[in-house]
Amino acid sequence: MMILSTILSLATLSLATAFVPTTSVTPSQLAVSSTAVPEEFYINEERRLLMNMLMVGAGGLTVLGLGVPYIAFFVPPGSVGETGGVAAKDALGKDILFTEYVATKPTGDRSLVQGLKGDATYLIVNDDKTLESYGLNAVCTHLGCVVPWSAANNKFICPCHASQYAPDGTVLRGPAPLPLALAHCDVDEASDKILFSPWTETDFRTGEKGWWN
Ligand code: FES
Repeated sequence: MMILSTILSLATLSLATAFVPTTSVTPSQLAVSSTAVPEEFYINEERRLLMNMLMVGAGGLTVLGLGVPYIAFFVPPGSVGETGGVAAKDALGKDILFTEYVATKPTGDRSLVQGLKGDATYLIVNDDKTLESYGLNAVCTHLGCVVPWSAANNKFICPCHASQYAPDGTVLRGPAPLPLALAHCDVDEASDKILFSPWTETDFRTGEKGWWN
């Protein structure tokens, strides 16, 4: 038993000494070692700042180079007019030109084009061959069917549940609860394009804020 205890003590002592440094380093030795590092190892502050600026610049250029084409991919070419509106498009996605359009349409015409967010929107041709200052969103306010214009009846009649709307989109007969949504409609004289923009003002048919806002 005595022998076993002695062996364990010796083993513990040898383990403990294994982690003790064989020599200790004095402060003067540390000073010597730090001065022994070659001078080119250090980067002065100006060089560090310059390198940081170069890295930030390179990162920014990379983000711009990747981000701008990515965002531009989702913006249809020529869709935004100079006045900030969205160009009305035909069924093929081509911008509609005002002069050509009214030349081919009778007065009082209500035809569908692509409007804001690609929504089916009625352009209205006035008696003097100008365009009405608003377009009508063709989505029925009951359950979302596209509402056709019936020239013979001079109103919009929904084929789904027979709601009816006046030529300006006012509800004539339910179950549609609300008038057709409005969008501003303007002609850009420089490009001859027809531009839609959001209608955020009072709805002139109800005297209240537009329900779509
Ligand atoms: S969806 Fe138009 S009346 Fe129901």
